[in-house]
Amino acid sequence: MGKGNGRGGGGGGGLLLAVALSLVAAVSGFTEPGDLAILKQFRDGLSNPELLQWPANDDDPCGSKWKHVFCSGNRVSQIQVQKVGLEGPLPPNLNQLTALSNLGLQNNRFSGAVPSLSGLASLQYAYLDYNNFDSIPSDFFVGLENLQVLALDGNDLNASTGWMFPKELQNSAQLTNLTCNECNLVGPVPDFLGSMASLLVLELSGNSLTGGIPPSFANSSLQILWLNNQLNGGMTGPIDVVTSMVSLKSLWLHGNSFSGTIPGNIGDLAFLKSLNLNGNQLAGLIPDSLIGMDLDVLDLNNNKFMGPTPKFKSPNATSASNAFCLPTPGAPCAPEVMALIDFLTALNFPSRLLSSWVGNDPCQGPWFGLSCNNGKVAMINLPKNNLNGTLSPSVAKLDALTQVRLGSNNLNGPIPDNWTSLKGLTSLDLSDNNISPPIPAFKTSVKLLTGGNPLLTGTPASPKGSPPSGHTKSPGGTSDSGNVPDTVSSTKPKKFKSVLAAIVAPVASVAALIFLAVPLFFYCKKRKETSQAPSSLVVYPRDPSDPDNIVKIAVASNTYGSTSLTGSGSASRNSSGFGESHVIEAGNLIISVQVLRNVTKNFARENELGRGGFGVVYKGELDDGTKIAVKRMEAGVISNKAINEFQAEIAVLSKVRHRHLVSLLGYSIEGNERILVYEYMPQGALSKHLFHWKDLKLEPLTWKRRLNIALDVARGMEYLHSLAHQSFIHRDLKSSNILLGDDYRAKVSDFGLVKLAPDGEKSVVTRLAGTFGYLAPEYAVTGKITTKADVFSFGVVLMELLTGLMALDEERPEESQYLVGYFWNIKSDKEKLMAAIDPTLDKKEETYESISTIAELAGHCTAREPNQRPDMGHAVNVLAPLVEKWKPFDDDYEEYSGIDYSLPLNQMVKDWQEAESKDLSYMGLEDSKGSIPTRPAGFADSFTSADAR
Ligand SMILES: *[C@@H]1O[C@H](CO)[C@@H](O)[C@H](O)[C@H]1NC(C)=O
Ligand SMILES: *[C@@H]1O[C@H](CO)[C@@H](O)[C@H](O)[C@H]1NC(C)=O
Ligand SMILES: *[C@@H]1O[C@H](CO)[C@@H](O)[C@H](O)[C@H]1NC(C)=O
Ligand SMILES: *[C@@H]1O[C@H](CO)[C@@H](O)[C@H](O)[C@H]1NC(C)=O
Ligand SMILES: *[C@@H]1O[C@H](CO)[C@@H](O)[C@H](O)[C@H]1NC(C)=O
Repeated sequence: MGKGNGRGGGGGGGLLLAVALSLVAAVSGFTEPGDLAILKQFRDGLSNPELLQWPANDDDPCGSKWKHVFCSGNRVSQIQVQKVGLEGPLPPNLNQLTALSNLGLQNNRFSGAVPSLSGLASLQYAYLDYNNFDSIPSDFFVGLENLQVLALDGNDLNASTGWMFPKELQNSAQLTNLTCNECNLVGPVPDFLGSMASLLVLELSGNSLTGGIPPSFANSSLQILWLNNQLNGGMTGPIDVVTSMVSLKSLWLHGNSFSGTIPGNIGDLAFLKSLNLNGNQLAGLIPDSLIGMDLDVLDLNNNKFMGPTPKFKSPNATSASNAFCLPTPGAPCAPEVMALIDFLTALNFPSRLLSSWVGNDPCQGPWFGLSCNNGKVAMINLPKNNLNGTLSPSVAKLDALTQVRLGSNNLNGPIPDNWTSLKGLTSLDLSDNNISPPIPAFKTSVKLLTGGNPLLTGTPASPKGSPPSGHTKSPGGTSDSGNVPDTVSSTKPKKFKSVLAAIVAPVASVAALIFLAVPLFFYCKKRKETSQAPSSLVVYPRDPSDPDNIVKIAVASNTYGSTSLTGSGSASRNSSGFGESHVIEAGNLIISVQVLRNVTKNFARENELGRGGFGVVYKGELDDGTKIAVKRMEAGVISNKAINEFQAEIAVLSKVRHRHLVSLLGYSIEGNERILVYEYMPQGALSKHLFHWKDLKLEPLTWKRRLNIALDVARGMEYLHSLAHQSFIHRDLKSSNILLGDDYRAKVSDFGLVKLAPDGEKSVVTRLAGTFGYLAPEYAVTGKITTKADVFSFGVVLMELLTGLMALDEERPEESQYLVGYFWNIKSDKEKLMAAIDPTLDKKEETYESISTIAELAGHCTAREPNQRPDMGHAVNVLAPLVEKWKPFDDDYEEYSGIDYSLPLNQMVKDWQEAESKDLSYMGLEDSKGSIPTRPAGFADSFTSADAR
């Protein structure tokens, strides 16, 4: 950006005036001695003072011989040393130059603390930008009454903690330009900045700001507002306030996590010339008013915008990587799609629907929660999906609708009148929401369920949530203790609940935890010697804002310690108004070592699946034939490092449940034993099937299977990256950590390296871990990791799926040793690309389309700059349409938590009963149909690769 007036080193009239004044000073006497002393300190503190060319034998800086210094009378009023190359600290008492009005220190290598400027009432311009200052005192801003410009950009200030402008700054009522790009600001943007009427320019890019744009900004006169590229996920919330900022010329919000829609009246910003919203979570339709604006810069890439691809008036507008219904600009979407977009908009874009409602045909592809009949949407089936918002009148346009099932959500507002025009509607379930009256007059043929809506009935929801109004009620869940989560299907026997002791979340966040919808995955009978079971797992209620409805499981130190909190749990449930806030104590995920000994034939060699850095993985077989994978750390190897790894693995895996992530079923800690029990993946690692199929006499994977695997992995990783309150980064995604089931569906495994990012941070500097060949360049170089490093590794896996070549193979000719480099060289050349495709694949023309789509995605994912890589949600969106889809589903629960309950639940109970009678403390999730894997397989690759660590 332009260096303005005051920045110019006393150019023009200012210079003449200053020179004239300094002449006066020279005539009328010497520079004030105090000022002289400080300038000398300034000089003497530098390691290269000679660059100043200040004369050693002259004590009159206000005379003509001191470059860069300007005076007013005998007082120093300006220091202008920009770009001189000065190095070293500044004197701490610089603010004794009380006549200073203009301080130009930018573009040097000044280091140490920024000196306090507090009390410099004449100071108008302070340019401290682009130096090596490392901290800023908190009194810096006190008493700067005439400050007009403050530039602190490009200084690594208070790096360990970050910092924020103190509120004293608001007394600088003349401030027009405040720039602090890349200067380590943390926390929310202060409110008061919006109320500073003088402020025209606010540039705070590249910091770690969080939270939303404060509402106070509506009244500001800002012309330039740059809040782009905040680290660690960045700023959140809607951007609606910007449409009130009528003076805006340049609005840069890219590289954050803003959500909601672009407000329809954005066209009112008559002066706007540059708008960058790239890389946020914005959704909904692009407003016509924006499409019609003529802007120099309009960047809407990498959001979740829907509807028709816009045909912009702005010549340079871009809007790639969104969720438009059709690629052709201006082509209208199907009317059903437009109606469904309105439906989503009224619900504030629930992320799970956002990622699956893609394309221009709700009857093709995933479209979670919809069922069709004769090519039209016949059912909206989204009970218990944490939908939060209102019901859109546009649903009335889905004229083939017969059933709407939206029970047990957080819907408010009335039922739109014109829903009564839905001729075929037979059933409308809105029970257990917060719908308000009036209820429109539906035909009597419509089965209307509205129980559990306090505003409709005037009766508050019963303590269990509601009177039984729907089909998804909790069986016998009538008392607070022995509570069973209310999504458990009614096939669940009452007996089950007797093993669950309901206790209450002893955590402050309990109000945010709403209802528990997943039953226990398995039950382990408590060991008699409880002293050997030092910790137990507590299943917390699920978090309503969590798109995938995971169950939170925490390790509690005392199984029964929190039962007494039941009362407060009820209170918080009532105050939150819906759902459950109970914690179901899971008994134990602990499995006794003895049981594991039995099922692995005393850890017999023949049951070994693989060996890794910290132990051995065994196959185990339960009495009923269910197989498990048992990862045992050998007594001798348990260094502190291994224990940490072990605990990290428990902590992470127990929080993570997804159909495309390998499930942790339990664990043992007894004496020196540290054992993890996983679900068993009979077909073993993807790498075997890609690279070693010949030796192992396997069938090479078909293209269709590869596509399925890619989508499965993308879904698993998307889930891992987008858990509601924490972001997990895998750090070691590779084909040997992708395990296959008998159906060749994939799950991501080996979270031993996953580092749980600290709350609120998506980028952590970590010990470098991972596998060469898959490492993102920025991670390899700086150790700084974000979810985008996983995206890179995913891109490498895609390349492996395409070519059948290992990520790194020194046996290959030099130019193709490193797969990423090789692939980038050939990917845009159709002939070369096709020549590099795995020869086992059948390269029919029809597959070329999907091959080139995957090749493009692989390239995108491995872009050099992390911010140019898409997020996993995008990968899912690209892959999903390529994969032939099953569904629409009939069973609410099937996909609901990512785990297939219907059949395993029965199985589960049977197993549990069996287990109880045999004192077998394990019950798996597996559908134990008894399919016997053809060969010992499992974690082998995963663990041989781990040996390298
Ligand atoms: C204030 O910022 C604007 C926009 O970057 C710039 O053009 C102007 O020169 C700045 N003013 C001063 C005095 O630095
Ligand atoms: C920056 O860090 C220093 C030293 O750690 C501290 O004294 C000062 O208050 C911090 N500045 C701000 C604005 O928080
Ligand atoms: C559009 O982009 C081109 C190429 O990047 C550039 O030369 C041109 O000035 C831009 N147009 C506007 C209006 O900014
Ligand atoms: C529902 O949305 C409202 C407003 O958008 C928000 O304040 C509230 O926190 C949301 N509730 C949940 C449970 O997400
Ligand atoms: C229902 O109402 C909405 C808004 O009031 C309107 O846009 C829509 O066309 C109506 N639909 C039908 C089928 O009446």
